[in-house]
Amino acid sequence: MAFKKGLFKTSVSRKNLMAVTGLFIIFFLIIHLAGNLILILPDSFFPIEFWGNVANQHDMYNAYSHFLVHFWPITVVAWVLYAAIALHIFDAALITWDNWKAKGEKYQVVDNSSSSWISRNMGLLGVTIGAFIVMHMAQFWLQYKVLKVEHDLYNLVIETFKVWWMVVLYEIGIIAFGLHIIHGIESAHRSLGLYPEKAMNIIKIIALWFSLIMAVLYAIIPIILYFK
Ligand code: HEM
Repeated sequence: MAFKKGLFKTSVSRKNLMAVTGLFIIFFLIIHLAGNLILILPDSFFPIEFWGNVANQHDMYNAYSHFLVHFWPITVVAWVLYAAIALHIFDAALITWDNWKAKGEKYQVVDNSSSSWISRNMGLLGVTIGAFIVMHMAQFWLQYKVLKVEHDLYNLVIETFKVWWMVVLYEIGIIAFGLHIIHGIESAHRSLGLYPEKAMNIIKIIALWFSLIMAVLYAIIPIILYFK
């Protein structure tokens, strides 16, 4: 295929690209989580004496959103993020295509890293997360950052999570994301060969706990806002 050049040429370079883009997306999601946790912190966390012109959760969240749009280094990181997401999806499609083709051939590539339900369903989880991200970006990113029709992002988010089925859709997306990164983090470290094989057991445990904490913290935001 014409596009199987450069970074997409060999299965090793494709796996490395998958690992680097995946780890970058996770790095973004740590910062994203920190920003969105403002939504569930009490107003007492934002004393005006400390934060200056910010006096409550509402002001703090909108100040944070305003900063995201108007501070140019963040804009650069956001473009790197969009490129990383696009490359990650494209690369995943190529790897899946090659695996399907390999199934029809005599010698199949066996993934020794783990054969858990998660590792066998990374594609399904990825498609679920993809659908979630399209919905999520259409709701917030498109309205606030691109079309600029919504100026009070805090109100938009609060209104969104007043709808029960929206909360359910978010929980599905977040569970898929949590499961995807348990295997993704382990697999990325294996692909990049950063540590000796012996250390991989520790990486596995770290990946499990990290993913669990990330997913639980993301998951509680819509639930708390629904009942607020
Ligand atoms: C309940 C939790 C979440 C809330 C309240 C939330 C909220 C938001 C908001 C308000 C925006 C638009 C403003 C901005 O760019 O930051 C946004 C953007 C975005 N969110 Fe989320 N988000 C949540 C979870 C997630 C999850 C789980 C993912 C990925 C799996 C995700 C991926 C993204 C991406 C890729 C963008 C675009 C980023 C950018 O343009 O800089 N979000 N989110």
